[in-house]
Amino acid sequence: MRIDIITVLPELLRSPFEHSILKRAIAKGLCEVNLINLRDYSTDKHKSVDDYMYGGGAGMVMMIEPIANCIEALQKERTYDEVIYTSPDGELLDQKASNSLSLKKNLIILCGHYKGIDERIRQHFITKEISIGDYVLSGGELAAAVISDSIIRLLPGVLSDETSALEDSFQDGLLAPPVFTRPAEFRGWKVPDVLLSGNFKEIDKWRHEKAIERTQERRPGLL
Ligand code: ADE
Repeated sequence: MRIDIITVLPELLRSPFEHSILKRAIAKGLCEVNLINLRDYSTDKHKSVDDYMYGGGAGMVMMIEPIANCIEALQKERTYDEVIYTSPDGELLDQKASNSLSLKKNLIILCGHYKGIDERIRQHFITKEISIGDYVLSGGELAAAVISDSIIRLLPGVLSDETSALEDSFQDGLLAPPVFTRPAEFRGWKVPDVLLSGNFKEIDKWRHEKAIERTQERRPGLL
C-alpha cells in the first residue's frame, strides 16, 4: 500500500512514521508513506498556499491551484483508490472504515488547514472526507496520522500473530477485555484467578464476558 499525504507541515507528520509498528511496516516494505509539501506546488514566488476568503470573513482558505497541481501530478504517476480530505465535516472514522481503507492500494490524504480548502477542490478532486472526532483540530496532520496508523496496522504482516489486529477493540464490535501482567498480586490487588488457571477455554470465555460487560458499561451503543 502507498499513502501520499499532502501537507503544509511535513515536519509535523514525520515522527509518527519513524517509530514502533509504523516504522517497521515501512522498513519491511509493507507500506510506503510519502509526505508531500504542498508549497512545492505553489506557482507564486512566495510559495503561498492560502488566500483571503471571497465575500469577506476571518481566516484564510487553502487555494485551489497548488492542491490541484499536486493531486494531478500524483495522479499522473498512478491511479488512486481514494483522495481523502481530513475535515471535521467528514464521515467519522471507525474500525469498519479503517478495515475497508486497508484493502486499498494507493491513497492520497490531503490535510486541511486554516478555514478549510476552496470548495472546488472538494467538488472535483476529493472522493472521501474523514473526521476523526467531533472536535476541531488546528490542522489535518494529526488526523492524517491517526487515519494512517489505523490502516497500516491492519496490513498483512505488520502485526505478529500475538498482537493480531483481530484481537483489537472494535474488531468484533466489542471493546477489548481487561489485561494484566506480573506480578500476580500488588498491594493485595489480585489478578483474576481464571487468568492464572492455564485453562484456555475458560480464559477465552472470561475475556468474552468481560468484553461484553465493558462494552455494555462504556459504549452500549456498540452492542
Ligand atoms: N481537521 C480539523 N479537525 C479535524 C477532525 N476532527 N478530524 C479530521 N480533520 C480535522
